[in-house]
Amino acid sequence: MSSEDNRVIIFDTTLRDGEQSPGATMTLEEKLQVAELLDAMGVDVIEAGFPVASPGDFESVAEVAKLVKNASVAGLSRANERDIEVAAQAVKHCEKPRIHTFISTSPVHMKYKLRKEPDEVLEMIDASVRFARKFVDDVEWSAEDATRTERDFLCRCVETAIRAGATTINIPDTVGYTVPEEFAEIITMLKERVPGAEKVIFSTHCHNDLGLAVANSLAGVKAGARQIECTINGIGERAGNAALEEVVMAMRVRNDVLPFTTNIDTTMLTRASKLVSAVTSFPVQYNKAIVGRNAFAHESGIHQDGVLKHTQTYEIMRPEDVGAGKSALVMGKHSGRHAFREKLKELGYELSDNAFEDAFQRFKELADRKKHVFDEDIEALVDENIATATDRRKVVALTVIAGTMGPQTATLTVDEDGGHRTVQAVGNGPVDATFNAIKQAFPHEAKLALYQVHAVTEGTDAQAEVSVRLEDEKAGISATGRAADPDTLVASAKAYLSALNRLEARKSRVSGGRVKVEPLSEAVRRSGP
Ligand code: KIV
Ligand code: ZN
Repeated sequence: MSSEDNRVIIFDTTLRDGEQSPGATMTLEEKLQVAELLDAMGVDVIEAGFPVASPGDFESVAEVAKLVKNASVAGLSRANERDIEVAAQAVKHCEKPRIHTFISTSPVHMKYKLRKEPDEVLEMIDASVRFARKFVDDVEWSAEDATRTERDFLCRCVETAIRAGATTINIPDTVGYTVPEEFAEIITMLKERVPGAEKVIFSTHCHNDLGLAVANSLAGVKAGARQIECTINGIGERAGNAALEEVVMAMRVRNDVLPFTTNIDTTMLTRASKLVSAVTSFPVQYNKAIVGRNAFAHESGIHQDGVLKHTQTYEIMRPEDVGAGKSALVMGKHSGRHAFREKLKELGYELSDNAFEDAFQRFKELADRKKHVFDEDIEALVDENIATATDRRKVVALTVIAGTMGPQTATLTVDEDGGHRTVQAVGNGPVDATFNAIKQAFPHEAKLALYQVHAVTEGTDAQAEVSVRLEDEKAGISATGRAADPDTLVASAKAYLSALNRLEARKSRVSGGRVKVEPLSEAVRRSGP
């Protein structure tokens, strides 16, 4: 591929630089899961690890190399024969193996880290790239700390690597120091001044210490680089690397000014983000671009009104384009009438004008007092019957046998509209047994979408607060139940039943005809946003 093409190679280093984030270590199994997803998503090169670093790293690079079907798999190595040999061994089972070898080129790294003179470094570049080429045709060479490297020397290093047979030249901003204009100038300079530059692909590898990793990577591409090294969720050393989902979506959404393409199936971005967050236990910040949970959520009345009238008023991309489901209208104190009316419709209510005004005022009062206004709160606001509907089935008694001795068994007595019934079920653990008992008492198709336990107070006698969300996929409806009890299993059973009651009440409202609600009180109507 020539660098005149506008296709940008996406080189994902989540499994190497990403895993170098303190605390982000992944097991072999987890790395394989991530690699499989990256491959399916259309990543061109997967840097699977640093094989010489440990036997575990070697094994994971080797296993990723065997697993991956489409992408190239790269193994990182320093500029010495042992590293390169081990990297070559690790990637040899891949159809498209790549060796990625690097050495520092900045004065501060050469003097204090390598303790080498520039001429020695040049010799090492030549020898390492030539040695790597004995094993594979695809050799990437990186100038570590390139952006703090003296420019003439950087040109000599790059020229040496190209002469020795490197096919990709990577220009890392190792310490996240550069700014877009400067980085673009470096790429332009290398392409203009280095003999043989036209034969290789220039690559960016930008760290995010100043929050500029994505901007720098895109500036590099505008200046002629055609590979971006990046990670899912931007994880990586210190402040991380350029986020894959951000660079890819920037080029897609702003293709008018960034006329480049990638091979990425963007509808898989959210899944990839969730998987990497789960296996590394690194939460994704709520307001993270593209994949944060607020990326397509609107709370302010003005924005909600705009989005309801036309999504493009406040959304520059469609949530489904990044696999994020639909935009969310979060109900809170900033929400306005338009969103409130939509929410009521979604919950199956049809309100007369007076009832609507009445409910809206009470919603605003509640939202002022409560941080999160849930669907259940809104139901309680507008529907006098909801308490009875959601109270139809109750837990009367629960006994659970748990421990190491045998199948965990739950014996549950429930009340349905006044009649009692006792059932027994086993499960894979006491919670599973309890939920199975509920399913036996009240057979249903809904799936458990969330089970969350919080300790409300401290200590072993703490009150447990449990949330359960059930989803009826066919009906496209979900409902959440919450309950608190000093016994976690009792709280779990109550929360599950509450969710089931709500789900059924909501289902019959939405499918079996909307509930018409008259004003609950003659509250004074005030006008608001
Ligand atoms: O940041 C960096 O310089 C690196 C190199 C090893 C490519 O990760
Ligand atoms: Zn790096």
